[in-house]
Amino acid sequence: MTAKTILATGAALACALLVAAPLRADEGLQIPPVGNAAVKTECGACHIAYPPGLLPARSWSAIVKGLSDHFGDNAELDAALARQIEDYLVANAAESGWETRRMLRRLDAGKTPLRITEMPWWTRKHERKDRVAPETLARKKAKFKGDCKACHQDAERGLFEEEEDEHAGRFGRFGSDGRGHRH
Ligand code: HEC
Ligand code: HEC
Repeated sequence: MTAKTILATGAALACALLVAAPLRADEGLQIPPVGNAAVKTECGACHIAYPPGLLPARSWSAIVKGLSDHFGDNAELDAALARQIEDYLVANAAESGWETRRMLRRLDAGKTPLRITEMPWWTRKHERKDRVAPETLARKKAKFKGDCKACHQDAERGLFEEEEDEHAGRFGRFGSDGRGHRH
């Protein structure tokens, strides 16, 4: 190996480690929650106020511009408020942080998803293993796939850790006192 390839390999490895960190299975994803009062109130009225890092800027713009027909609901706001909300969502979109930029992977640059649940990273995490199959949604009392909070209690705080599932035995293997109790 030449010094150059060693350097290049090292840089690639460092990049891979950085990029791998945010979606680590043991900790889950942690991104900033909504930090704007108008967005919390107006966009948290019918469902959770989705953390802006979950979608690209162009998606937030399209969503805010289409509020008069928002998935069949009329969620229209006056122009000044809509602009303020759009500005906040766009400024804090997936592109804005290194931990959320990962959400854009595999997303076609020509596409503007209007749903988080249409993002390639989301479908990859959920559609395998029937995590959002109709019977799972019903069991979790989730109103729709985008009802994140039904399965991720702290979704509004930007925390998407693995849920504590009583059937998975995730916490059953080792007791919380660390002595390895089994039930
Ligand atoms: C019906 C239940 C359900 C709903 C609704 C749901 N999820 Fe999940 N989600 C899961 C399960 C189960 C996992 C896998 C947990 C794991 O492997 O850590 C998961 C994994 C994730 C992960 C990866 C966490 C990790 O550890 O890598 C993220 C991020 C995530 N969900 C975000 C969302 C968002 C955002 C929404 C709403 C738009 C949502 N989920 C809706 C059940 C759900
Ligand atoms: C009047 C109620 C209402 C208000 C207010 C509202 N929404 Fe929604 N929103 C909905 C409905 C209904 C859906 C679709 C639910 C379904 O598919 O069953 C939805 C879905 C969404 C989704 C897609 C979630 C997914 O991945 O499926 C996003 C993103 C979203 N809303 C953002 C916003 C934003 C941003 C605002 C504030 C500007 C807002 N909403 C205000 C009713 C509302």
